Amino acid sequence: MATSPTTTGRSRTPLGAQLLRRKPLEQLTDESLTESGEGGLKRTLGMWQLTMISVGATLGTGIFVILGTAVPLAGPAVWIAFAVAGLAALLSALSYAEMASSVPVSGSSYSYSYATMGEGVAWVCGWCLVLEYGVSVAAVAVGAGQYVNETLGVFGLALPPALANPIGLDGGFFNLPAAALVIVAMLLLVRGAKESAWVNTVMVAIKVIVLLIFVFIAFTAFTTQNFEPLAPMGAAGVAAASSRLFFSYIGFDAASTAGDEAKNPQKDLPRAIILSMVIVTVVYILVAVAAIGALPWTEFNDGEAAFVRILTDITGQPALALMFSVGAVIAIASVVLTVYYGQTRILFRMSRDGMVPKIFGRVRPSTGTPVAGTVIVGTIIAIVAAFIPLGELADATSIGTLFAFALVNLSVIYLRRARPELPRSYKVPFFPVVPILGIVMCLGLMVTLGGTTWMVFGLWMVVGVALYFAYGRKHSIVGAMSENDYVNAATAATPVIMKEHK
Ligand code: ALA
Repeated sequence: MATSPTTTGRSRTPLGAQLLRRKPLEQLTDESLTESGEGGLKRTLGMWQLTMISVGATLGTGIFVILGTAVPLAGPAVWIAFAVAGLAALLSALSYAEMASSVPVSGSSYSYSYATMGEGVAWVCGWCLVLEYGVSVAAVAVGAGQYVNETLGVFGLALPPALANPIGLDGGFFNLPAAALVIVAMLLLVRGAKESAWVNTVMVAIKVIVLLIFVFIAFTAFTTQNFEPLAPMGAAGVAAASSRLFFSYIGFDAASTAGDEAKNPQKDLPRAIILSMVIVTVVYILVAVAAIGALPWTEFNDGEAAFVRILTDITGQPALALMFSVGAVIAIASVVLTVYYGQTRILFRMSRDGMVPKIFGRVRPSTGTPVAGTVIVGTIIAIVAAFIPLGELADATSIGTLFAFALVNLSVIYLRRARPELPRSYKVPFFPVVPILGIVMCLGLMVTLGGTTWMVFGLWMVVGVALYFAYGRKHSIVGAMSENDYVNAATAATPVIMKEHK
């Protein structure tokens, strides 16, 4: 067994040593097994549910709302932009799959970085994941709010402008639909992961069916002339659209936040990650090709209007447009549910490491869920969603995610060299080309994001570093281990890592 860390003698470790101190792999897995028992999370999720968590977290605002804002950037080549963003995501997905097969615990890239590059990088990664997960839930809820307003409009109803939009948008003040959606997700997540997974599976089925119906109908009005010229804004336009659309792939890694709740994480996590990427990429490219084939790209102003117009123009049935809008709300609600779930599990793991306050790691025995953490995270997200517009939030999410993905690719390279003997049920093909290309593509997409996004990112990092010194540095459990404890844990030879989690 790995030695338990000492929690006394806080942080006598010199700063440099603490930042580089890695969490021993065996200890990570050992904790995951223990914590899944008494006082921990419950192992209830199989491969299919894990795949649905990833698809649930991925397919949403990107295709239903942001596609419409990417078409004016790339023209008909928007489907190529989807493919490019998908390639960047796929390269990182393969790295995620390998890491999930060798470090099958919750906490996603935060845990992978802790095991490979040390506490400093892990903290930075965890802090980026708060952008990827926490901030994106807010962004996505705002996107859903737009469709709620659209759906109410079909019935001739409308919320007062002050309650329908965030500050600064069409006379808005408090985005009620967005905030309400987060609160409903909170109530569900408090009940339990299994219940949430069940509701999520139903929602994923609905969103895939709605999009396939759209593709089917749009193809009946398909004209190849709509694809000429293919890229009126050239390669630069396609590149700009790719980084905008990268947001639509964020979330495939959500299954990797559920390592502690998976029945057989080693086998099922890599499969779920890759399968979900395949499903969403196929759906995205089909929808993009069908939409452009049915409506000239110059007539796309924003996503929801374009989709609804295509459906009503072709069929003459406003009922179908209504079905699409309701489907979109359900689709985006499932992103809110799963990404929010992921955020609570990442904080759970960070709190068990002493990097964030203990309250985020407290599990209520009756539900097996981190209730207090879920309520705190939900309240903050609901407030952000109520007041801030979508565009600002989406780009900030993308830059943090791209950085976290680059770190996962780096972790794969590191771990292959540092622990070549470690059992891996999945291995990245063409190593090291794939993870290196993954890093290059992530950094490349980061560069194409605008100056304001970089400023937000820089500011975010400064706040993160300040928080680390104010809390994580002082409370880190690995950082507080004595040299002996650390060496013992690091060299513990127990092969718990390959234990089947039944
Ligand atoms: N990929 C997620 C979405 O598009 C964040 O909504």
